[in-house]
Amino acid sequence: MDRFKAVGLFSGCGGLDLGFINSGFDIIWANDFDKDAVNTYKKNIGPEIKLGDITKISSGEIPDDFDVLLGGFPCQGFSVANTKRSMEDKRNFLYLEMLRIIRDKKPKFFVAENVKGILSLQKGEVIRMIKNDFESIGYKVNYRLLKASDYGVPQNRERVIIIGNRLGLDNPFPLITHGTGNDLFNNTTKPYVNVKDILDDLKAVRTRDFSFDLDGKQIHNHIARTNVSDKFWGRKHNVNQHDVCDYLKLWRKKSGISTKKIDAHFGYAHTAGHWFRKDNNSGSIPKPEDWWELKKLLEFDDEFDKRVTEMEEKTIVFEQSLRINNWDTPSDTITATGPEIHPNRKRRMSVRECARLQTFPDDFVFTGALNSMYRQIGNAVPVLLGKRIGEEIFNSLKSHELEESKTEANRVIREEVLK
Ligand SMILES: C[S@@+](CC[C@H](N)C(=O)[O-])C[C@H]1O[C@@H](n2cnc3c(N)ncnc32)[C@H](O)[C@@H]1O
Repeated sequence: MDRFKAVGLFSGCGGLDLGFINSGFDIIWANDFDKDAVNTYKKNIGPEIKLGDITKISSGEIPDDFDVLLGGFPCQGFSVANTKRSMEDKRNFLYLEMLRIIRDKKPKFFVAENVKGILSLQKGEVIRMIKNDFESIGYKVNYRLLKASDYGVPQNRERVIIIGNRLGLDNPFPLITHGTGNDLFNNTTKPYVNVKDILDDLKAVRTRDFSFDLDGKQIHNHIARTNVSDKFWGRKHNVNQHDVCDYLKLWRKKSGISTKKIDAHFGYAHTAGHWFRKDNNSGSIPKPEDWWELKKLLEFDDEFDKRVTEMEEKTIVFEQSLRINNWDTPSDTITATGPEIHPNRKRRMSVRECARLQTFPDDFVFTGALNSMYRQIGNAVPVLLGKRIGEEIFNSLKSHELEESKTEANRVIREEVLK
């Protein structure tokens, strides 16, 4: 068999699915309930996607015979950016739809993607519950936090990838291929792909509503949001980062909890380090929900509670306040809500630029209103990351097939001999 078969749930515009197609899979059926995302999928990938709410689609409507189930079950309820992180959020239970379909269809592998915040949700209880549930239906399950830039994507996007299989195999995660290039002990990685490497040709090109030719190449969706909100949520009272840092350092010392442990508790990689760093460039004050969580851990008094956590809506000068994306490093995470200012500072990142940072090919055309296009892209798994995961699973399936055929051949020989 040259290609394997996969089904995509919560496929969106198809980032993960396209990555798997590029690594040797055919998507035989997919689903999403976002009309624009489904239209984009149909236009670029194929008609196999069904528009509809998965909670209302019976397993009988899904084809039976496929090797891998893919599903980036919705992340809003799980996101660290969302203050209402809770077990009660109904969207948190959409993974149960994936569980139902896996139980009914028994694919050899499944791959689920989610935001980093899922690791710390309910102190890790949610991810444990999900892992247990998948294990209870006969799958060996592992999850890892992968950073897209480590695999050649020009973006420091971190996502949790959960892989399960029912073949008794080790779950294969892709090896890191890219890095800073100054790791003395590991010179096997290539340098990170930076924003400049992939956006340079569009840097000075004004955005426009229609596709156009740029040095013989068709450019689609080079269109950007121009309206900006002039209000933002900011701290009500003045608070000095140095003072908060001294205070937190003192209480961390008293509690004897290391920065590393604090990061592990929150599911962050380096954030806690910034809370204990007294420098205005890289140090930061915890956001309110993190402050309350930190208080439970370090048991500090209420000296700074009001100053750190009371917020109000303020008027902004947007040029000063919005984040400007990077240029000589991989990009910050492309989100579903709104793009950052382009490093040339004259406009926001266009839909095409966001798509490139998510490694969608230039001939992948997005449909729908501007906000919807940004949302489809921000929700996606970078195509290249999807491909790297797909390649690992493809190779596992191939080796397994080979083993199976050897065992079968041996069985036939044995039977012949015994005759
Ligand atoms: C994180 S995005 C997945 C992105 C996709 N994996 C990709 O790589 O492009 C989650 C998707 O789940 C879809 N979704 C949420 N609830 C759904 C439901 N009840 N039924 C079907 N799709 C749903 C959303 O429309 C969204 O496109």
